[in-house]
Amino acid sequence: MYRALYRHLLSRADAEWIHGVAVRSLAMTGNFSVSRALLRCLFAPRRLESLAVSAFGLRFAHPLGLAGGFDKDGVALHGLAALGFSFIEVGTVTPQPQAGNAKPRLFRLLDDQALINRMGFPSSGMARVAHNLERRPALPLAISLGKNKTTPLQDALQDYCAVLEYLYPYGDLFVVNISSPNTPELRRLQTAAHLAELLAGLRQALAAQGSAKPLLLKIAPDLSFEEIETICALALQHGVSGLIATNTTLERPSGLRSADAHQPGGLSGAPLRAKSTQIVRHIRAVTAGQLPVIGVGGVFSGADIWEKLCAGAVLVQAYTGFIYEGLAFVRRAISQLQGIMRAEGVRDLGQVIGKG
Ligand SMILES: Cc1cc2nc3c(=O)[nH]c(=O)nc-3n(C[C@H](O)[C@H](O)[C@H](O)COP(=O)(O)O)c2cc1C
Repeated sequence: MYRALYRHLLSRADAEWIHGVAVRSLAMTGNFSVSRALLRCLFAPRRLESLAVSAFGLRFAHPLGLAGGFDKDGVALHGLAALGFSFIEVGTVTPQPQAGNAKPRLFRLLDDQALINRMGFPSSGMARVAHNLERRPALPLAISLGKNKTTPLQDALQDYCAVLEYLYPYGDLFVVNISSPNTPELRRLQTAAHLAELLAGLRQALAAQGSAKPLLLKIAPDLSFEEIETICALALQHGVSGLIATNTTLERPSGLRSADAHQPGGLSGAPLRAKSTQIVRHIRAVTAGQLPVIGVGGVFSGADIWEKLCAGAVLVQAYTGFIYEGLAFVRRAISQLQGIMRAEGVRDLGQVIGKG
């Protein structure tokens, strides 16, 4: 009944409009301790030691976090934390405020359990985001760093460093987003010459902060294995703490059924799942586990989390799965994961990572 209603709503209203309503509602509900407690009680999974993960020098209650792009300005973090995510990635944040691409720019592919977006980093800018993060919840917070659309590629490092330095006090992990398909030329930063310069500069900016919070790199799924191997080698050489694999894809796998499948932009959700898992597995294999990976792409259920962990991910994120599954997404997925652990005789998630 709930699912049918939800699907009906999803198929009728404009995707970005619904997203705005959801973020504002979560922001409001998260503001008050009573409504927060209610959300937690209704939707968050129980805390269990067997699900806890230690990674990047941090402790996570379980492996499932919220991927970048859902809460771009960090306005709904308390509400999202109450829904049970074990960590949240805020952003992508740009130095100056920018509006992003023209609307419509977000499309639901209901028959494919997917989304296509060409948002183009709408951001309130780092100063506003810093203000929003003054009152942050007590769970690991990742901040996604981006560049403004008008900043030429050769000056990208300055933008990434500016956001890193400005938001450094507010985050626990930092993610260099060079893989969005919706900012012109951004993905060129994944090529060896650009990336080496970017990582060296960011390393220096991080060292200047005096402590060593983890820096991760988020990559696209549209890279060849060879390109991924070059990125892994550079990441290891420049002391990057881990990779996030993957962002949305420009590919359109055959078999997509929805009318909007031809829309330009990045495709996420179920059609991306196998590809991103394959990339997680490849990174794990070529780095012999030296570069921890957060797996993201098409996670809707406990089985999908299990698949990514078995491929070698230390943690998992989701965006599209949350949109389709609704408020009980985390509780349901974690309970399914526990069921799989029981069936497989696994008591501790450490036993799972990279096992198959
Ligand atoms: C509407 C939308 C906006 C997104 N914005 C960002 C973003 O700002 N930064 C980022 O790193 N990834 C962004 N992503 C990509 C997601 O974080 C994730 O990598 C991708 O959607 C694959 O995961 P999924 O299949 O669980 O959605 C966005 C995805 C969607 C659907």
